[in-house]
Amino acid sequence: MAKALTIADLRDMHRRRAPRMFYDYADSGSYTEGTYRDNEAAFERIKLRQRVARNIDNRSLKAPILGQEATMPVYLAPVGMTGMQYADGEIKAARAAEAFGVPFTLSTMSVCSIEDVAAHTTKPFWFQLYVMRDRDFVVSLLERAKAAGCSALVLTLDLQILGQRHKDLRNGLSAPPKMTPKVIADLARRPAWCLGMLGTKRRSFGNIVGHAKGVDDLSSLMSWTSEQFDLGLDWSSVEWIKKHWDGKLILKGIGDVDDARIAVEAGCDAITVSNHGGRQLDGAPASVDMLPMVVDAVGGKVEIHMDGGIRSGQDVLKAMALGADATSIGRAFVYGLGAMGEAGVTRALEIIAKEMDITMALCGETRITEVGHHTLLNPPMAEPAEVRGAEAPPLAAE
Ligand code: GLV
Repeated sequence: MAKALTIADLRDMHRRRAPRMFYDYADSGSYTEGTYRDNEAAFERIKLRQRVARNIDNRSLKAPILGQEATMPVYLAPVGMTGMQYADGEIKAARAAEAFGVPFTLSTMSVCSIEDVAAHTTKPFWFQLYVMRDRDFVVSLLERAKAAGCSALVLTLDLQILGQRHKDLRNGLSAPPKMTPKVIADLARRPAWCLGMLGTKRRSFGNIVGHAKGVDDLSSLMSWTSEQFDLGLDWSSVEWIKKHWDGKLILKGIGDVDDARIAVEAGCDAITVSNHGGRQLDGAPASVDMLPMVVDAVGGKVEIHMDGGIRSGQDVLKAMALGADATSIGRAFVYGLGAMGEAGVTRALEIIAKEMDITMALCGETRITEVGHHTLLNPPMAEPAEVRGAEAPPLAAE
C-alpha cells in the first residue's frame, strides 16, 4: 500500500486487478476522448504563485459543503457500477468517505442498493438521480433515498442520452459480465477480483433490478439508459423533482453560463460545473476552464461545485482558487477502490489531502477556504467581488 503515492499509482493497480471491461468503463471518455484529456490538461495549464516567508503553521483544509463541515472540499461523485470495480464497492467507498469525513454520493446505477449502503454506514450519504420515463419509479427512488436518510439529492442533467464510449461497446460492457471466451480469458487473469465477486450477492444494479416495473434482469447500462432515461427532461421536470424532494438539491452537469443562471433561478443549493468527466459531450470545454465563467455569472448565489480531471490535491486547490466551493472526484476514488477496496479509497483521499496541504503551504496559504485568484499566476479573468477569495486578506508584500 505504501507504494501508492499518486492517483496514477492506484490507477495502474486498478488496471491490473479489475476485469478489462470495468477498468475501461472508468478510464474512458466519449468519442475522441478530447474533453476527457483536456479536463486534466487544463489543470496543468494553471500555474501557482510560489510565496515564501509567510507563516504557514496551523493549516486547515476543512471546508463547509452544503452547510456541513468536511475534512476537505472534496466529495465522492456518483459513479455507475462502482460495485463491479471491487466487490461491494459502493459500501466500501461510502465507509471510507465516512471515516475520512467527506460526503459520498450513491449513483442510481449503483450495484449496492440505497438500503444496503445505509445499512453499512452510520452517517447520511447523498443520492444521485437520473430522471426516467417511469415517474412512479422515480418517486419510489426518492422515497427510498429519504427513508435511508440521504441528506442531499444530486440531480444529473447531462446524461439523458449516453455519449458513445467506444471501449464499452467493443468490450460488451455489462453487469455482471457475459461469459464470452474473451471475458473468460480476461477473468482468468484477475483471480482476486473473481474471488471477491464470488463472495458477494451484489452483482447487478441494486436500485433497479427487482424494483423497477418488469426489470428482473438488467445487465446493460446502455440499453437501460436508452430505453428508460427521459429525453423530455426540461426545467419543468426539475420543478417536478423539487416537489418530491424537500432536502438539499445539487444540479449536476452545468457546462454553460446560461444554464447556470437558469439553474439558480430554478432553485437549488448548489450546481456542479461538469462535463461528466468527458464522458458525454466530446468537444465541450474542460470543466476547470468553464468554472471561472460560471463563478462570474452566479457565484455567491448558490454553492459552486466542479468535477472533471481532478487527480491531485493541487487540482482541488486550483479549482478552489478559481472560486469553487467544493469539488468532487470520480475516477480518482474509483482507481483506489479498484486497486484495494476500502483501503484504496482511503488512500486516494489521503493522497489528495496531503498534496493539497503541502501545495497550499508552498503557496503561502494556511486555509483552503481562503485561496483565490491571488494564489494563481495566471487567473483567467477578474475575480468577481462577491465571491469568496476576493475577501482574502491582502498579501503582506503588496
Ligand atoms: C454514467 O454516469 C456514466 O458516465 O457511465
